Amino acid sequence: MLNPAFTRIGLSPIVEISERIRDVAPRWEARTGGKFAFLQRGELADNTPAYITRAIGQAIEAGLTRYPKSGGEPWFKDAVLARLAATGLTGLGRENVLCTYGGQEGLQLVFNAFAGGRVVAFAPIWSCVIDNIAPYAGCTLDPVALVERDGALEIDFAQVEAKLPGAALLYVNSPQNPSGKVFSRAELSRLNDLCVKHGVSIVSDEAYEDFVFGGAKHISLLEFPGDHIFAVFTCSKSYAATGFRIGYTVCRNADIIGKLTLGEYTQTGGVVPFIQKAFAVAMTSEADREAWLRPLLEKFNRRRDVIYDHLRPVLGPALYRPEGAFYFFLNLKGLVPPAPAGMATGEFVLQRFLDAGIAVIPGTAFGGPEYAHHVRLSFSGIEDEALERALERMTKQVFISGAKAGA
Ligand SMILES: Cc1ncc(COP(=O)(O)O)c(C=O)c1O
Repeated sequence: MLNPAFTRIGLSPIVEISERIRDVAPRWEARTGGKFAFLQRGELADNTPAYITRAIGQAIEAGLTRYPKSGGEPWFKDAVLARLAATGLTGLGRENVLCTYGGQEGLQLVFNAFAGGRVVAFAPIWSCVIDNIAPYAGCTLDPVALVERDGALEIDFAQVEAKLPGAALLYVNSPQNPSGKVFSRAELSRLNDLCVKHGVSIVSDEAYEDFVFGGAKHISLLEFPGDHIFAVFTCSKSYAATGFRIGYTVCRNADIIGKLTLGEYTQTGGVVPFIQKAFAVAMTSEADREAWLRPLLEKFNRRRDVIYDHLRPVLGPALYRPEGAFYFFLNLKGLVPPAPAGMATGEFVLQRFLDAGIAVIPGTAFGGPEYAHHVRLSFSGIEDEALERALERMTKQVFISGAKAGA
């Protein structure tokens, strides 16, 4: 009989929609003469910075083409430790670091380490955790919805506490995909206290650690002591490097990192050494890193403000202004007409965007029918002018004409 793990996993709706858009976009452009707006992407349109791609060539020429050391080369781990130290995280050694194929593999290994367990997670939840990571590990997700209140996304701590007893893990993703919420130190501290109280481990997905805006600060859960915290990082977003598949997982419990290292070795044999080298350079060349990230973040900050300023009059004070990542998660209840009979709301909302030449991800991808009126809009891969035009089309063609928030 086939391992049930393989019958539980599915294709993320994000991948399905990207396939569909490949067909829809050129037809829309041919019909309208306009430029289709790709707001569905979860990756940067920018190329990987040259200081990193150069380092790959040099690493290949230097012969870093043989079997890797499982769990990561010592110099890769040192680069991770230097990067963590630059953000104030110390007291960690090589034995606390594991090099993985992207954040996704890091998350999968941690979930696998708690196979079959119940995982409490804040909804909306990154679709890959729902469709792949949790089901592959045989874990069940137990969502706690973030509460949308007056433009804020609040944690229902009573519900978290009610769900923690007997849970294996709490999955925290800050900055969060898809909402853009950045969890505050006070929120993380309270969550950590609850997990300690109930003996629950934490998997902290910090994929968007560098993407914070308007004075918000990313707080790593590694700031809190304890062997129960797994922080999962990736180079995908910070270095426009989604195709290189490299990341790292950090835990103060060296014994568990040793076990995850064996898991990583079993699955992949280790991350390609010349890629490890290039991203060791990426993380430790402070001046190059700064020269790449600073203008990028300024650009993203501006785009975030453009979108917020445009949508605020339509969505009203309920609109959450994301403090991190590069997404808006819009609640369009009351702003789009009801779906025609026989058509699901989520599909209808998506169709309105596609008809207006805009690709978005339906909210249902992040937690099911509860988010049928939501869409995720990404500002990671669109230039300013195209964005402005897309926003105008959105107001004219997607929302009910003259719709005002609260209507
Ligand atoms: C919330 C979140 N975590 C982790 C990842 C992992 O990315 P990767 O596997 O490319 O490192 C992503 C990618 O989209 C993400 O959105």
